[in-house]
Amino acid sequence: MSGSPEKLKTLPPENPVLVRLENVTKSFGSFQALDQVSLEILKGDIVGLLGPNGAGKTTAMRILSGYFPPTSGKVWIAGQDMSGQPEKVKKHVGYLPETVHLYGDMSVMEFLDFAVKVKGVPAAERSKRIEEILFQCGIWEVRRRLIGQLSKGYKQRVGFAQALAGDPEVLVLDEPTTGLDPEQIHKIRMLIRELGRTRTVLISTHILPEVSMVCDRVLIMNEGRVLADGSVEELAAGLVERQEVLLTTGDSTDGEILKMLERVTGIDQIHIQSTKAGKTTLKLVVSAGAEIGPVLTRLFVEKNIPLYELRISRLSLEEIFLRLVVQENPPAVAL
Ligand SMILES: Nc1ncnc2c1ncn2[C@@H]1O[C@H](COP(=O)(O)OP(=O)(O)OP(=O)(O)O)[C@@H](O)[C@H]1O
Ligand SMILES: [Mg+2]
Repeated sequence: MSGSPEKLKTLPPENPVLVRLENVTKSFGSFQALDQVSLEILKGDIVGLLGPNGAGKTTAMRILSGYFPPTSGKVWIAGQDMSGQPEKVKKHVGYLPETVHLYGDMSVMEFLDFAVKVKGVPAAERSKRIEEILFQCGIWEVRRRLIGQLSKGYKQRVGFAQALAGDPEVLVLDEPTTGLDPEQIHKIRMLIRELGRTRTVLISTHILPEVSMVCDRVLIMNEGRVLADGSVEELAAGLVERQEVLLTTGDSTDGEILKMLERVTGIDQIHIQSTKAGKTTLKLVVSAGAEIGPVLTRLFVEKNIPLYELRISRLSLEEIFLRLVVQENPPAVAL
């Protein structure tokens, strides 16, 4: 979905595009931090934004949250052009910055009271709203404590609460779990998934397993450009030239099973990996595009041949990331 605007999808109204960037560029002096970024995020998506230091993640998130405008290009949030009425459009977005600046000498309640006012929540709805977000972010018990005295994990929760103050449709979270202990990380991830049920979430992170755990879709950025966009499965499929399948079946030494597999379209090579206790494990090399799992399962069921295990290897997100980002910039070699 990244790339030229012509490629951007037209969607039915029940699945609207909540965030849309079209050819967005951001320059700081002569340095271009974002270079012609085009993308769409749909209602209900939880999207992980990955990229090495300096890729442009925070810059993109700041533009989305209205922190600063792009140098060129267009941004729409919930169908509204950000350049037209930025203040109005900003209300649709809740932003958790990389470093949250909280007012340490305010209590949690005082701070959230301030945050809901800033977001323009009508006076009559404010206390109900604050109560909701205190519960949602698990900080009801600490509501009277001074923010400066809270632990880092709780401060981060107050940051989340502040991002939710205006009941936004879009949540932009810049590295929300960095620096937290494993238990807090787990809780924050659960909170993100919970929030993602009713909102669109864009989350940047350096923790790759976090993306697989929390996100439906991944955007990989490098040097201000979007290099890849899709689910982990889609990205892996686009990068592999061939798949490897490990299959454990009954005794196949009579050659019947091998002959059957040789006839399957997409299987390029068959190797006998091991034969033990009446079971044979085969390694198959399969062409990249073939949907081999269902084909093999159906075949074994139809022929009534035991199939003990079927494992299709695929690239991990880490391997995808390294292939896309590192191979694009191979380290300099001293000659
Ligand atoms: N206000 C600014 N003035 C000048 N350069 C900036 C400014 N903000 C960002 N940059 C530059 O833009 C590039 C992208 O920065 P950005 O903070 O968006 O990266 P990032 O992907 O969030 O990195 P990280 O993973 O380290 O948080 C960097 O080279 C950075 O130095
Ligand atoms: Mg950043």
